[in-house]
Amino acid sequence: MSILEAIDEQQAAVLSRIAEASSTAELESVRVEALGKKGSLTQLLRGISQVPTEERAAVGQAGNAARDLVEAALEQRRAILATAELQARINAAAIDVTLPGRAHTIGAQHLISRLTEEIVEVFRGIGYRVVSGSEVETCYYNFTALNTPPDHPSKSLADTFYVVDRSGEQSAIAGESDVVLRTQTSGVQVHTMEDCELPIYILAPGRVYRRDVADPTHLPQFTQIEGLVVDKGITFGDLKGTLEYFCQQVFGPARKTRFRPHFFPFTEPSAEVDVSCGICGGTGCRSCKGTGWLEILGCGMVDPNVYGYVDIDPEEYSGFAFGLGVERIACLKYNVPDLRYLLEGDMRFLRQF
Ligand code: DAH
Repeated sequence: MSILEAIDEQQAAVLSRIAEASSTAELESVRVEALGKKGSLTQLLRGISQVPTEERAAVGQAGNAARDLVEAALEQRRAILATAELQARINAAAIDVTLPGRAHTIGAQHLISRLTEEIVEVFRGIGYRVVSGSEVETCYYNFTALNTPPDHPSKSLADTFYVVDRSGEQSAIAGESDVVLRTQTSGVQVHTMEDCELPIYILAPGRVYRRDVADPTHLPQFTQIEGLVVDKGITFGDLKGTLEYFCQQVFGPARKTRFRPHFFPFTEPSAEVDVSCGICGGTGCRSCKGTGWLEILGCGMVDPNVYGYVDIDPEEYSGFAFGLGVERIACLKYNVPDLRYLLEGDMRFLRQF
C-alpha cells in the first residue's frame, strides 16, 4: 500500500470513529489515538520525510489536508457532544424554575401567650409587677394556706393531679408529702406574702392543671393570671375600680361589668365578675345561656385567715385578690366556640388571630 493510500485509509478510519464517538471523553481518546504524539496519523505524517523527494510535495499536501480534515471534524463533533452533555446535566438537575417557591412560614406568638401579655401590660400600666410560681406545688400552698378545709372536694384524687415518685410513693417537697400539679395560681399569693416586702401589687400568670377531660368548656391544662394587692387602706372599692378598668381595657368600652356575690375559701367577701355578652349585647342569646352575661373571673378581699399563715397583721393591712382563666377570656373576646381549638395547634384556626 502506498503512503497516499495509507493516509486515505487512516483519514477515513479516524473520521468514522469521530462520527461514532458518543461522548466528549470518548472523542478525546479518538483525538489522542490519531493526533497524539504516538497517534496513527502523526506517525504517518512523520513517515513523509522518508518519501522520495519528487513525491514528497504531493504526499505532504495530502497529509496536511488529512490532518486539517480530522481536526475540523473533531471540533465540530466536540461542539455537538458538549451541548448534548450540558443539556443532559440540566435535565438531570430537574429544576423547574416555573414552579412556585416553597414559602417559609414565619412563627408567631400563640393567641394565649399574646393575650396573657396583653393582660399583663394592662396591670403593669397601673403599677403591678409580674412574679412567677412553680407548676409543681405542695398542698400547703395550693390549698391549706389558702384557707381551704382539709375535706374540700377540690383536693380529691378525682380533681387534682398528685405527683408520685417512681416507686409510686407520694413525692415530697420541703418535708411536705402532698405534692400536686397546681390547680390554681392562687398559691403564688401565699409565696408572695411570705417573701415580699409590703406593699404588694403583683400579677402571676402561669399554667394550672385539673383532672378534667377536654371538652368545649374544660381543659386539663390551662392558663391563669392571679392578681394580689396588699397595702394599707385597700377597700372593696379599689377592687371594683381596678377590675372594671381591666375589663374596659381588654373588652372595650362597650361592654358592661357586674359583680356577683360568690364564695372562695381565701377571700371574704368574694365575688365573680361578669361582662355583658358581646354577641347579643346583653339581651340574652345561646352563648350567654340567655342571661346577657358571661363570667370572667373570681375575686375578693383577702381573708384574714390567710394573713394568719403569712404573718401579716390584718388590722394594719388589707388587700384583694383575683384570678382569671386566659383561655376563657380568649373565647369570650374572640367568640371561640370550643376551648380545645386553643390546644390543637391547627394553623387554619390560629392564623385568624
Ligand atoms: N383560684 C380560683 C379558681 O381557680 C380563682 C380565684 C378566685 C382567684 C378568687 C382569686 C380569687 O385570687 O380572689 O377558681
